[in-house]
Amino acid sequence: MNNFEFQNPTKIIFGKGSIAKLSENLYKGEKIMMTYGGGSIKKNGVYDQVKKALEGFNVIEFGGIEANPDYDTLMKAVKICREEGVGFLLAVGGGSVIDGTKFIAAAVDYKGDEWEILTKKQVPEECLPLATVLTMPATGSEMNSNAVISRRAIKEKLDFGSDKVFPVFSILDPEVVYSIPKRQKANGLADSYIHVIEQYLTDDIDTPVQDRWAEGVLKTIIETAPKVLVENPDYNACANYMWSATCALNFFISPGVNQDWSTHMIGHELTAIYGLDHGVTLSIVLPGTMQVLRNDKKAKLLMYAKNVFNITEGSEDERIDKAISETEKFFQSLGIKTRLKDYNIGQEVAENICNRFTSRGVNCLGEHGIVTIDKIKEILISRL
Ligand code: NZQ
Ligand code: ZN
Repeated sequence: MNNFEFQNPTKIIFGKGSIAKLSENLYKGEKIMMTYGGGSIKKNGVYDQVKKALEGFNVIEFGGIEANPDYDTLMKAVKICREEGVGFLLAVGGGSVIDGTKFIAAAVDYKGDEWEILTKKQVPEECLPLATVLTMPATGSEMNSNAVISRRAIKEKLDFGSDKVFPVFSILDPEVVYSIPKRQKANGLADSYIHVIEQYLTDDIDTPVQDRWAEGVLKTIIETAPKVLVENPDYNACANYMWSATCALNFFISPGVNQDWSTHMIGHELTAIYGLDHGVTLSIVLPGTMQVLRNDKKAKLLMYAKNVFNITEGSEDERIDKAISETEKFFQSLGIKTRLKDYNIGQEVAENICNRFTSRGVNCLGEHGIVTIDKIKEILISRL
């Protein structure tokens, strides 16, 4: 096991009716900016619940943060925060709203070109504190310190991370899941699953606690998916979906292990160029990553085959083939199409994405840098 330091300061307030607990966790002295997305919260009652809980607080609103939050939109909020002297941010939404709010938190006091927060990973000494009311289980952003920001004007999608943007607290009420459209639930399930894979499917360095934890989350997502995808899912299915999505990327399974994240980096390029949903891009790319890197990841692939899918028969190669095919079948069972051609994307994609990486000085990805530019090409070509 590698050396590690671990701290996750985010308080989780979980359960039915927990949005009402907002007021007891906020301070009345600060001016609060409540951020949200394209309006789903106004249709499903979350907006009303939040407003009710915030009665008596000094709150301004900033709505309209897009899925894949856009830099130009967020900079409008940054300007308002500066003009109005906002002291606390409350994100009410999914990963996009939360990530966007983390960027606002970091940008308000940034001296210089705010885009550098993403290109140079520079975060100022002081960030505004933030909290979240999660409406879409998927990214784990409600309990982590990462954010991914798109800039459509120049077709870029970049991430940053800083301990200074961990939410102070996050409210997780599983009842918000009832209104999520099937396509978004599928995206959330696939995204959470692949977060675990990025931290688990690398090399085996004798980390049984992290590995069993990761397998537990993967199996829970597989078991919960069909119960959540139905039109009227029951409360416990929603609760298990929500908590597994948070646990998939709240850094509990990553201390001391090697991590990959190449599927995500390639997926972000597919979103930046073609506008595909995040969960869709990952479901396309992951089977290719597993196939092309099957020798480097052999020990973990065999562990995954056995402990997640109960595949114990056949040669090593046969077991790995089966595990890769079961993984792809799982994404398809969510209703996600897993080939580039399903989205009218041809082989030019490989050259295009590789050029984007090299022009940024990125020559390899993945654990120990094993995903070279040639491997990225191979992965994409294998997914045509
Ligand atoms: O904008 P509104 O109207 O709210 O609608 C949203 C949006 O259209 C809708 N939605 C959310 N909650 C709902 C709901 N509709 C009905 N009922 C509800 N309760 O769902 C749509 C998608 O929302 P979004 O926030 O974009 O989804 P998600 O949570 O999947 O976030 C995706 C973004 O997070 C980034 C992705 O790259 C992408 O930009 N990621 C962030 C990570 C992190 N911070 O750690 C890691 C991830 O790997 C990922 O990269
Ligand atoms: Zn993701």
